[in-house]
Amino acid sequence: MGLRIVMLGAPGAGKGTQAKQMAEKYALPHISTGDIFRAHLREGTPLGLQVKGYLDSGQLIPDQLTCAIVADRTAKPDCKNGYILDGFPRSLPQAEEFQRLLHTRSENVDLAINIDVTDTEIVGRLTARRSCPKCGAIYNLKFKPPKKNNTCDLDGETLIQRQDDKEETVRDRLKVYHEITEPIIEYYDRQGVLKTVPGTGSTPDAVFKKIEDLVSAAGAS
Ligand code: AP5
Ligand code: ZN
Repeated sequence: MGLRIVMLGAPGAGKGTQAKQMAEKYALPHISTGDIFRAHLREGTPLGLQVKGYLDSGQLIPDQLTCAIVADRTAKPDCKNGYILDGFPRSLPQAEEFQRLLHTRSENVDLAINIDVTDTEIVGRLTARRSCPKCGAIYNLKFKPPKKNNTCDLDGETLIQRQDDKEETVRDRLKVYHEITEPIIEYYDRQGVLKTVPGTGSTPDAVFKKIEDLVSAAGAS
């Protein structure tokens, strides 16, 4: 039992924004591989040092390493009723490896939500993104500015810009996305669990309403 949801979409499509709201509404853990790697980087752990170069340049961290982290995280007790994966899987080998893992647990991906946003919109969004290093809240200077200049509404912490949100790196991440990640949309379509939500020109709240409908159709109350 449980509800296992995978969030798909280009960098900046709004996976994190939506996953945070969903996690709250459905009381499921939000597992973002990007957040996990960035936390290690901030804390200077051996894993953090190992992934720094990939993160800063927008390249993918090797599949084996990423899959091992997800296998470990999803085995934790708080995942027993399901979870929301954000940023994983991100390549066909990751999707296949994850499927094998779920199979050993007699589980499945119940819903893969693809937020579809154009590349032009992505570049505009990501260069204006800011986030809170303390609580992880996501802001946007254009679309969702904090109440007070550069300060988190929730805890007053000074907001930061991600290293990989510089325009040039955003373009590299988009290239990686189209080449390596996009094919998994078809993979989940073939499994019959794919749902696409248009994200361009829709507010985060409008996107969330569509996602709520999909989640209730997939069986959550
Ligand atoms: P990761 O952290 O996963 O980054 P990403 O996929 O590039 O996604 P983002 O976090 O940039 O965007 P998002 O879709 O969550 O958008 P958000 O909600 O913030 O990965 C980073 C790196 O980690 C990778 O490059 C790689 O190196 C490594 N990594 C992670 N997972 C890996 C894996 N599985 N395998 C290998 N390597 C991995 O929204 C973006 C902005 O837009 C925000 O400012 C937000 O406020 C705004 N916004 C959101 N929705 C809307 C809307 N509807 N309208 C207007 N603005 C909006
Ligand atoms: Zn905060």
